[in-house]
Amino acid sequence: MAFFTRQRSLLGVDIGTDSIKAVELTTQGGEPILTGYGQVAVPQGADPAEALADLLKACGFRSRRAATSVSGRSVIVRFLSMAEVPESNLRSAVRFEADKYIPFDLDEVVTDCARLEAAGDSSGEMKVLLVAAKRDIIQNRVELLRRVGLEAVHVDVDPFAVGNAFELVARANNDPSLGSRVSALIDVGASKTTVTVVKGHEPRFTREVYLGGEDFTGAVAKRLGVEAGEAEHLKRAPGERAEEVAGALAHAVDELANEVMLSLDYYEDRQDGEKVEDVYLSGGGSRTPLLEETLERVFERKTATWSPVAGLAVDGDVVDANLLTENAAQLAVSVGLAARVVKEGAP
Ligand SMILES: Nc1ncnc2c1ncn2[C@@H]1O[C@H](COP(=O)(O)OP(=O)(O)OP(=O)(O)O)[C@@H](O)[C@H]1O
Ligand SMILES: [Mg+2]
Repeated sequence: MAFFTRQRSLLGVDIGTDSIKAVELTTQGGEPILTGYGQVAVPQGADPAEALADLLKACGFRSRRAATSVSGRSVIVRFLSMAEVPESNLRSAVRFEADKYIPFDLDEVVTDCARLEAAGDSSGEMKVLLVAAKRDIIQNRVELLRRVGLEAVHVDVDPFAVGNAFELVARANNDPSLGSRVSALIDVGASKTTVTVVKGHEPRFTREVYLGGEDFTGAVAKRLGVEAGEAEHLKRAPGERAEEVAGALAHAVDELANEVMLSLDYYEDRQDGEKVEDVYLSGGGSRTPLLEETLERVFERKTATWSPVAGLAVDGDVVDANLLTENAAQLAVSVGLAARVVKEGAP
C-alpha cells in the first residue's frame, strides 16, 4: 500500500503541417489518464508559436513538461545489423559506423541509438536502431516550445510516437494479439504519410511518403475547378457531389496506396517473407472518402482505422470526450508523445 502516489504529467505536442495537437497524459500508480486535449489549425504562413500559445491558454494543461517530435527529410531512421558488442560500448560502436548510414555531416546532427530484441541470438549479430536528426531542426522545436513557456523534455520522431500510441492502446485494452504480430501503422497527415512497421510493439521499419491530405484537396480543387477552401470542404462533406469528388480523389489515393505498398513489399522481402498481417490507419487524411477501401484492396490484407484513445481513461471534467472521439484519428502522434510519461514513471 501507499499513503501517497506521485502524479506525473506530460504534454505531447504534435506540431503538424495543418494543425497542432496537444494531449496530456497523467500517471498515477502507473496507470495513464488523459487529462487534457486541444488542437488548433495553423494557417499557411502563420507562426506556429502563436497558435500554440492560444491553444495553451484555452486548454489549461497541468504540465509545462512537453514531448514533441520532428519529421521530414532531415530525420534519418535506420535499422542496422552489426556485430554484437556489450551494451556499454553500443554508442561508440554505432558512432563509428554512423557515417555509412547518415547522409549529413556528423557535426550537424544529433544521433541516438538503441538495441532491438533481447540478447541471446546465436548469430553474433545484433539489431540496432539508429536515429539522426539535423541539430537545427531539433533546436527550432525546443525553442518554439520555450517561447510559449513549455520545457521540451523529449524530442521524438513521428513514427516512434505512433508506435508508442499503438502500444499504449494495446496495453489499455489488454490486447493479447499484440505479442509478436507484424502490423503496419500508416499515419496519413496533411503533407506526408508515415509508414511504421512494428513487430509486437517494437519498431522494425519506417519510411515517410510525401503524399497526404493536401494532395487530396489539391486533386479535388483541380478536377472540380474550385478554390482550395471549397475543395477542402467538399473533400470532407461531398454531399451531392460525392461521385465527382470520388472521381477526383481516385488517382491521388491510388498513388498513395501504391507508394505505401512498395514499403510493405520492401519490408517483407528484407525479412525473408515475414508477412505484415494487419494495417492500421490514423492521421486526419485517413478520413478521406474511399481511402480505407482503396488501401485494403491494394494491400490485400485487413486494413482499418484505429483510435489512439480507445480504452484510455479520460478526465471528463476537463476534456470534451465527444471532440476527442471525433478527432481521435489525428491524435496518434500527440498521444504517443505523451505516452512517454508511462515509461518515465516505470521503476
Ligand atoms: N473529415 C475529414 N475528411 C478528409 N480529410 C480530412 C478530414 N479531417 C481532416 N482531414 C485532412 O487531414 C489532414 C490533417 O491531418 P493531420 O492533422 O493528421 O495532419 P498534420 O499532422 O497537421 O500534417 P503532417 O503530419 O503532414 O505534418 C488535412 O489534410 C485535412 O484535409
Ligand atoms: Mg502529422
